[in-house]
Amino acid sequence: MAELNYTNISTATDLFGQAAEQISIMQPVPYQGSKRRIAQDIASWFPDKIRRFLEPFAGSAAMSLAMALRNSDIEIWINDINAPLIGIWHYILKDPKKISDQYEHLWTDQIGRERQFYNEIRNRFNKHHEPSDLLYLLARCVKASVRYNSKGEFNNSPDNRRRGARPEEMRRRIMLAHRILAERTIVTSLDYENVVEQYRAGDLLYMDPPYQGVSNGRDTRYYTSFSHKHFCTILDRLNNLDAMYAVSYDGRTGAKMYGEPMPADLKLFKVEICAGRSTQATLLGRNSLTYESLYLSPALAGITNSIPWAV
Ligand SMILES: C[S@@+](CC[C@H](N)C(=O)[O-])C[C@H]1O[C@@H](n2cnc3c(N)ncnc32)[C@H](O)[C@@H]1O
Repeated sequence: MAELNYTNISTATDLFGQAAEQISIMQPVPYQGSKRRIAQDIASWFPDKIRRFLEPFAGSAAMSLAMALRNSDIEIWINDINAPLIGIWHYILKDPKKISDQYEHLWTDQIGRERQFYNEIRNRFNKHHEPSDLLYLLARCVKASVRYNSKGEFNNSPDNRRRGARPEEMRRRIMLAHRILAERTIVTSLDYENVVEQYRAGDLLYMDPPYQGVSNGRDTRYYTSFSHKHFCTILDRLNNLDAMYAVSYDGRTGAKMYGEPMPADLKLFKVEICAGRSTQATLLGRNSLTYESLYLSPALAGITNSIPWAV
């Protein structure tokens, strides 16, 4: 694959047909569960002609970036309940230089005392919720995983083998995401229902809610717990509106299923996206591939099934 020249990229349109897949992977926000590696595969099930792309559980916003790369005309709405995470997106869109400089200072100041420095920044983040501190913590912590204790404090440990992306690499990624998304993206930190309520004809909603295995009961990964039952009620309401939406939910590694499948009465069209070999399977010397389920709403499946390239 050709080497990318970031400096020549002026608009998302310049990227069309080039290395969208590769660009999708180069994201500024490291995030466990990010769809970055399969974003283009998921996007291939979506029509190009949409008005707005709404991502209410955005995290690293992998799908918003992938959709923006495919279509230079669509408007994008990035939302996540985690306010400091959305703060990172706010800076990427509005002041990419500031957050790049802040990351560079943090990264440089850690040299020689990485472990202690991480703990200091984690304490500071838990007091002030500064987005640049969260970006540094995500770049350095184990599995780039956002974990909070019952008091709502970020409590993940550093991965002492990683210093985090080098500042010049982080700056490139931030600037690239800025060029792709700025001017046509809004960011909010709301409960997903507030975004779903704003659905209008011609929009496409992509929803990747918290992983079911850890989101019931007291949730230490996210600020809120997530109700599968209530989520299904919302999908039913969207069906009544003929809404175009897609949901990432359960999956399987080989024959082993994980997560609860979506109820049949929602009449969703299920496709499986190959996500490659799981780390766990590789460690155990197994060859099993992981497949993630993508559920298309009846209205979206009706359109997608008539597109020859999607089947
Ligand atoms: C599985 S992650 C999404 C990952 C994302 N698809 C990506 O590519 O990075 C789920 C996200 O939902 C957010 N979340 C959890 N509960 C939420 C809620 N009630 N409303 C909005 N966002 C929520 C979490 O903060 C988390 O970032």
